[in-house]
Amino acid sequence: MAIREMRYISDPVLRKKAKRVPVISNAIQQLVSDMIETLQQEQGVGLAAPQVGVSLRIVVIIMPEEEPLVIINPKMVKRTGEREVTEGCLSIPGYVGEIKRSVSVTVKGEDRQGKAIRIKAAGLLAEALEHELDHLNGILYIDYIENQDKLHKVEPKASDEGASDTSEQV
Ligand code: NI
Repeated sequence: MAIREMRYISDPVLRKKAKRVPVISNAIQQLVSDMIETLQQEQGVGLAAPQVGVSLRIVVIIMPEEEPLVIINPKMVKRTGEREVTEGCLSIPGYVGEIKRSVSVTVKGEDRQGKAIRIKAAGLLAEALEHELDHLNGILYIDYIENQDKLHKVEPKASDEGASDTSEQV
């Protein structure tokens, strides 16, 4: 496994629509392992392949004290409700924003063995799924910010303490 180089907000790869993974090859397995390691190093909740410069439909989510969740070719099948969250993104360090997300979502896709999976989630996992699936379509959370008052600067390092009480870097 290896740490991959993170891509940040001005990188055009973050604005591209990512391509479907046609076959879960050895190279894809390597990428998934690297994404998990990179996400652990960054101490984030979720990571989408474009954030490490690969325009493919793969997301990894690591909920606190849980095994990494890998979803290949994920598809949003249902969203219900609406709630306000304070959210950050590993590709936009130093900021968090208040936006609206669904209360619960259902996502289907494949695991890293190619087996079909279906995930129904609420709370932080639902937020992370929406955020990461957006990355695959070139969408960043700041696109949902209604006005400047809803975007806040945070100390990138201090976010380990203060800001992470109310927001997660997804
Ligand atoms: Ni993000």
